[in-house]
Amino acid sequence: MTTGIRNPFRPGAGHMPPYLAGREAETLEFSKILSQERILQNLILTGLRGVGKTVLLDSFKPLAIAEGWIWVGADFSESSSVSERTLAMRLLTDLAIVTSGIVISSPVTTAGFVQSKEEEHRLDFEALMKKWNEAPGLPSDKLKSVLEYVWAHVVPFKKKGVIFAYDEAQNLTDHPKEQEYPLSLLLDVFQSIQRKGIPFLLVLTGLPTLFPKLVEARTYAERMFHVVSLDKLSKEASSEAIVKPTQKGSVKFSANSVNSIYEMTQGHPYFIQYVCREVFDIWVSNIAREEELAKIPVNEILQKLDADFFSGRWSRATDRQRDLLAIIAQLKNSNSEFTVQEIVEFSMHQPHPFSNSHVNQMLSSLCSVALVHKNRWGKYILAVPLLDEFIRRQLAQR
Ligand SMILES: Nc1ncnc2c1ncn2[C@@H]1O[C@H](COP(=O)(O)OP(=O)(O)OP(=O)(O)O)[C@@H](O)[C@H]1O
Ligand SMILES: [Mg+2]
Repeated sequence: MTTGIRNPFRPGAGHMPPYLAGREAETLEFSKILSQERILQNLILTGLRGVGKTVLLDSFKPLAIAEGWIWVGADFSESSSVSERTLAMRLLTDLAIVTSGIVISSPVTTAGFVQSKEEEHRLDFEALMKKWNEAPGLPSDKLKSVLEYVWAHVVPFKKKGVIFAYDEAQNLTDHPKEQEYPLSLLLDVFQSIQRKGIPFLLVLTGLPTLFPKLVEARTYAERMFHVVSLDKLSKEASSEAIVKPTQKGSVKFSANSVNSIYEMTQGHPYFIQYVCREVFDIWVSNIAREEELAKIPVNEILQKLDADFFSGRWSRATDRQRDLLAIIAQLKNSNSEFTVQEIVEFSMHQPHPFSNSHVNQMLSSLCSVALVHKNRWGKYILAVPLLDEFIRRQLAQR
């Protein structure tokens, strides 16, 4: 066993890869958004699970700070979207982290007299909450007041503005039954303060369900956001993601290995990290040296990937849902968008055909367990990259 060689690859949600490959075009889009004179467009980064939204968003942070922006951000967990107030508190908590360094002074008043003495305090969460409590109106009015108040105190620092960057934004939801509209509140508040010329920018990332959800809540969201869809990496970018992390080390990937890894992963970032980490471990454990290892043990690695990654997701589906997924996996466009009609037609030649309404109904239940996404034009896509290949492997074993 060769010791002391660290495996540089990092499969895992939100783990910055050893080399962030590709994404130049997306980074350019972000720079364009930053260069707006007045904020007319906000940014959405969207794409399937594991495509690299979180790490790309993380890579934007230093760029924005270097350009003079203040960066505020976190994840939108489901709990932040329970009510309008919880959403507002989420924003103010995150904002207070960066504004708490700002010292402001206010005149001291005693029994109605303004004294010449000034009292200093910080723009911390307590100060923001004080403003929130004093502001009249609905939560949206209160939030606007606090944000305007904060900006007035940030102006002297000559910053370009404040970026509110939120990951997992597909979790934001309005709750009509409870009369709580946190998602609409977010859109209303930012639209309103941006109209007043306050440079507070929203950068949201999320699954493909995010943008349709925003537009459903407020039709103007369509004009408010520029949507950047992240896709798998190109062949060149994939090669860089594979090769660059080991360039200086003693273990290197041959051109053949790079090709096999690309074929296995088809350029999906999470799978690249996963497969590279496995291959690297095999080499380092000195079972075989790279030159001697004729081939990457593709089947073994795929089996491990199936157990680690796919089987948990597959187990969320009922038997009948699996039958439907099996049909989807056999469509020629299984790895892109497909329609209800295509499934119905294919299923006609199967032992247990599906009717139109049955397919519709099952697709919507598959959407709710996050195995399928529906887009705005009524087409569907498998929510997990390479799930179709996994299913075909399962079918082959039957
Ligand atoms: N451009 C890239 N080059 C190389 N590896 C990448 C790239 N982008 C992402 N990765 C790797 O892919 C994996 C998934 O990245 P990330 O967690 O950012 O995806 P995500 O789109 O946020 O996924 P999720 O929807 O599950 O939150 C990580 O292991 C990360 O290191
Ligand atoms: Mg993520």
